[in-house]
Amino acid sequence: MTGQGARWKAVLIGLLASAGLWDVAGLATAAAAEPPTYADLKSLFQQRCVVCHSGSSAAAGLALDTLAGLNKGGTRGAVVVAGQPASSELVKRLKGISLPRMPLTGPPWVDEADIGRIERWIAAGLPAGAPLSPAAVAAAASMPAARPAPGQPATWAHVAPILATRCAKCHSPQGLMGPAPEGYVLNSYEATVSANDRVRVVPGRPEASELARRVKGHARPRMPFDGPPWLSADEIRLIDDWIRQGARDATGKPAPIRGGARLRLRGVMSADGTLDGLVLPPGGRRDKQPGPGDEVELRAWLMPDGSLDVDRLRRR
Ligand code: HEC
Ligand code: HEC
Repeated sequence: MTGQGARWKAVLIGLLASAGLWDVAGLATAAAAEPPTYADLKSLFQQRCVVCHSGSSAAAGLALDTLAGLNKGGTRGAVVVAGQPASSELVKRLKGISLPRMPLTGPPWVDEADIGRIERWIAAGLPAGAPLSPAAVAAAASMPAARPAPGQPATWAHVAPILATRCAKCHSPQGLMGPAPEGYVLNSYEATVSANDRVRVVPGRPEASELARRVKGHARPRMPFDGPPWLSADEIRLIDDWIRQGARDATGKPAPIRGGARLRLRGVMSADGTLDGLVLPPGGRRDKQPGPGDEVELRAWLMPDGSLDVDRLRRR
């Protein structure tokens, strides 16, 4: 702002204030507010986004842990257009104009004031700002939602980053393989626990959940399909805990049991007659006499109490 401009503004504020027309303090702060810089926003991205958007398997190929990554965009192209917040995919995702809304773990979403700061930063042309002090870098690097210890409460907030970085690249509507394989979308809580076609998560019962069976390799092909590497033992344990505790959403509410939904499980018959530990209820058709060591496919209906009503069991 030029000296003269500033002087005129001061005069104007003084006039309006003396006339009782305007709240001086509020206007003075607004006039003084410079657009935010990347340095001002970095800790926000760090706390809400980088758990999924960083490293070699960053969600959507989009790294949000550096300004360079933000400018580069993801596998689908740019996410910020300097000077044009309204046409920036980043803003559309934060507001839910483009879906799935970000952060994928929400709600809670990023609050309106912070989205406003990001919009003003983009409108101002994405200024970098001063490099962060070592203390600010350390503060920004403190990650949210540390992984809970075995048996500790686990929610969608803990599981989502694993699915986002290892699974959603295929299991989303326009993934690496086109439509989601088997129609199973893993880019939101609702989709992950849905009974669309069939259920893959039975709250309370990881052994009856195809999601858990696939990451352990009980059901084949093992997931992630592009593995190895498979999920770490710690990640698999967390997914098991999450399902056993009721497949809770990020706010801690357990998923409903979708009584009446269809279910399809794959696995190997154990010598004890279980399917990798899943006790098979009697009933249903048994095709081709599956015995110990045989790979089988089980089709069943889920009962409202979480038990299975077997339709048929057949050797694959
Ligand atoms: C729990 C993991 C997770 C978190 C946290 C997360 N994202 Fe995402 N993000 C994803 C996934 C997965 C996709 C791809 C979803 C799709 O479009 O199918 C994605 C896609 C995006 C896209 C679209 C990329 C493109 O090229 O279309 C933007 C922009 C984005 N995220 C921004 C953010 C921002 C900003 C935050 C933080 C406020 C955030 N994300 C937090 C997982 C996450
Ligand atoms: C490279 C792409 C790719 C990745 C990454 C991937 N999947 Fe898959 N997924 C597939 C394909 C292909 C199938 C179908 C395979 C089959 O059953 O023949 C599949 C099937 C599944 C099924 C069975 C769905 C059903 O209806 O029975 C589940 C569950 C699953 N994946 C979970 C996951 C999880 C969890 C991850 C991440 C840990 C993951 N997938 C990562 C490609 C992928």
